Amino acid sequence: MKRIISGSLLILILVLTLGLLVNNGYASPIGKLVDEKVIRGAQLYDDWTKIVVPAPTLAGNQPIWSRQTTSTLGGVDTWRCVSCHGWDYKGNEGAFRSGPNYTGFPGIYAAREMDPSELEGILAGVNNENHDFSLYLADSDMQALTAFIQNGLIEDNEFIDPVSLKVLGGDLANGQTLYSGTCAQCHGDDGRQIQFRYEGQDINLGKLAGQDPWRFLHRTRFGTARAPEMVVGASLGWTAQEGRDVLLYAQTLPTGLEAENTPSIGEQTPGSGEQPGGPASNVFTGILTALGAIATGLGFAIILGALLIGIILLVVWFLRGRK
Ligand code: HEC
Ligand code: HEC
Repeated sequence: MKRIISGSLLILILVLTLGLLVNNGYASPIGKLVDEKVIRGAQLYDDWTKIVVPAPTLAGNQPIWSRQTTSTLGGVDTWRCVSCHGWDYKGNEGAFRSGPNYTGFPGIYAAREMDPSELEGILAGVNNENHDFSLYLADSDMQALTAFIQNGLIEDNEFIDPVSLKVLGGDLANGQTLYSGTCAQCHGDDGRQIQFRYEGQDINLGKLAGQDPWRFLHRTRFGTARAPEMVVGASLGWTAQEGRDVLLYAQTLPTGLEAENTPSIGEQTPGSGEQPGGPASNVFTGILTALGAIATGLGFAIILGALLIGIILLVVWFLRGRK
């Protein structure tokens, strides 16, 4: 009898641990459960047209797209959630409020408070038949999108300078450690090993980090269907801040595609190296920049004016003295 009890206890414990292993959630970036479902939802949000099997046949633009005329995107890209709602999930109130990606379509950030059935309804076109994605997505994918909207949306805008797009208040040393340990093996120490297409250009990781920090964060946290082999921040248990730390470090990586050599002043050929008006790179340009700044300043103008008047007075006094 005892044996049976301890035997079944053992089996119970085994089943429980197995269950825990299978149903593994990750430490969430925002204190909510982030699991495989949320990660799948995030990748569907990025580009479901490339993930679902069989690949959908999508003719022309998403019908809602015709309500806007500002973005020049066309075809399959207009069916991606991100094209309308943004990498920061804030649509026309976020990074897409202006520029080439402006469409005027709203964000989904507030929708994270909705309950799953309401969200699935919206995705199935209950409010707007043109917003019916259930025609193309399996039930499990509709649920994954819903789980992502509820648990995966992170508000980063207060940590990103709206003008320079640089990360505010991050930990650069921590970012460097995380980058060297997890990202450099594929992207290279300088972020140039893999190139991406970005708005019609080939760019590297450093440039993406500077130009589109929100796309960088979304794909670092949740991965991208374009690179299933890539590590996913959420699976590593990274917090929202750790994602931003890596972004901060990536923003210090070189932005050009070619290896950058810094020739000495004598060798510098026109069109290479520093852009005119760029930041000073040595003592001479530093002094020049400083002088330029003073010269444009009001204080310098006053001094210059006083000097000129002084010279004129001197000349007048000199001429009078000669008579
Ligand atoms: C072509 C543009 C477009 C695409 C693509 C698109 N949406 Fe929308 N979405 C809208 C518009 C516009 C609204 C506002 C309601 C309406 O007009 O239907 C909306 C509303 C929503 C809302 C409700 C927001 C709220 O707070 O009420 C959610 C959630 C949402 N979309 C999620 C998604 C997801 C997930 C996808 C991808 C499967 C997606 N959308 C694809 C344009 C789009
Ligand atoms: C196993 C190799 C591998 C590792 C490790 C890896 N990546 Fe990637 N990464 C890729 C590949 C491949 C792509 C996709 C290139 C493409 O779009 O064709 C990619 C794409 C990306 C993109 C998306 C670029 C875009 O077009 O938007 C970002 C951002 C990114 N990686 C950041 C990181 C960061 C940060 C780390 C470390 C946490 C990392 N990657 C680790 C291989 C890797």
